[in-house]
Amino acid sequence: MTIRMPRWFVGWVSRRYVAGPKLEDAVKVMSRLSKEGACFTVDVLGEEISTLEEAQFFLEEYQRVVTAIIDNNLDSNLSIKPTAFGLLLDRERGMENIEAIVKMAHGHDMFVRLDMEDHRVTDDTIQVMLEMHEKGLTNVGVVLQGRLFRSLDDIKEIKEKIGQNADYRICKGIYLEPESISHTSRQPIIQATNDCIDSMLDAGAYVGIASHDYPVINHALSALEKRGMGPNIPDPRKNAGPARKQKGPGYEFQMLLGVRGPLRRKLTAKGHRTRVYIPYGEKWYEYSIRRLKENPTIGTQVAKAFLMPWTNRP
Ligand code: FDA
Repeated sequence: MTIRMPRWFVGWVSRRYVAGPKLEDAVKVMSRLSKEGACFTVDVLGEEISTLEEAQFFLEEYQRVVTAIIDNNLDSNLSIKPTAFGLLLDRERGMENIEAIVKMAHGHDMFVRLDMEDHRVTDDTIQVMLEMHEKGLTNVGVVLQGRLFRSLDDIKEIKEKIGQNADYRICKGIYLEPESISHTSRQPIIQATNDCIDSMLDAGAYVGIASHDYPVINHALSALEKRGMGPNIPDPRKNAGPARKQKGPGYEFQMLLGVRGPLRRKLTAKGHRTRVYIPYGEKWYEYSIRRLKENPTIGTQVAKAFLMPWTNRP
């Protein structure tokens, strides 16, 4: 599908969803949103890489991010894409790069989330997480996508391997996957995402609920209540994974920068830990266009936010 949109328009739109081109922009946004009680996860924007030099750029930039988080006393962790570290170009070098950033974060008791890309890298991404855990680097967790048929089996398998050290982000999944391997319409995607939330909680894993959608958030709230979990209740899970600073009592809510701020603030006011995903980087144009290509419904959401801002305030 060809997406034609003037650069100025994409730039105008992305100002709301991307912190800016520089790390300093991300720090500024986080300092501002800290006052609303939010915590964060930082994503350095980039396109698919084609050389190991580009992977080196990501490693060094994320090292700067860790330093900036510490220096500015920010309540933030990292979101990385294994492919940006070279995993598909040269597995060994890719793993070395990922291990380097995970080790650095580990030294500061900082968590690293492996973002999930499309189904071609699901196995690799889960494998990276498991290998890090085998090396004692338990500050790493993956994202699972509710829309994929495989996710419930993945939760079972991961539980067998690392038990309650599992730490997930669960989301619907941004990539429009083939119908042979995924749900493709709204209600089944919501139902499958909610089933994953239940299964993760029952497995005793830490669960980051990443959605702005009421049927998912409301389900999560009642699923937590049923299990005696909630704000200001100590993590009730027996033998819960390693307690880390920056974590909620067994769960947290997560939202994208610029999306449904009032809902996020409401959850924070009720005492839930709420994390904002903060993308920044020079590649904001490519990132925005690629996301639109991957899932054109984002265009509708952005247009709605543009024309009817009261439906989705930042
Ligand atoms: P839904 O799409 O129904 O959105 C509900 C409402 O929220 C919309 O009507 C709109 O108002 C608003 N909204 C949602 N997304 C918006 C956007 N991008 N711009 C403007 N408004 C928007 N996916 C993935 O495949 N791999 C990953 O690693 C991640 N990581 C991730 C982290 C975090 C913190 C979040 C919140 C989401 C992701 N996602 C993701 C994306 C996720 O899979 C999903 O595509 C989006 O969150 C949209 O789904 P919702 O559940 O929010 O519902």
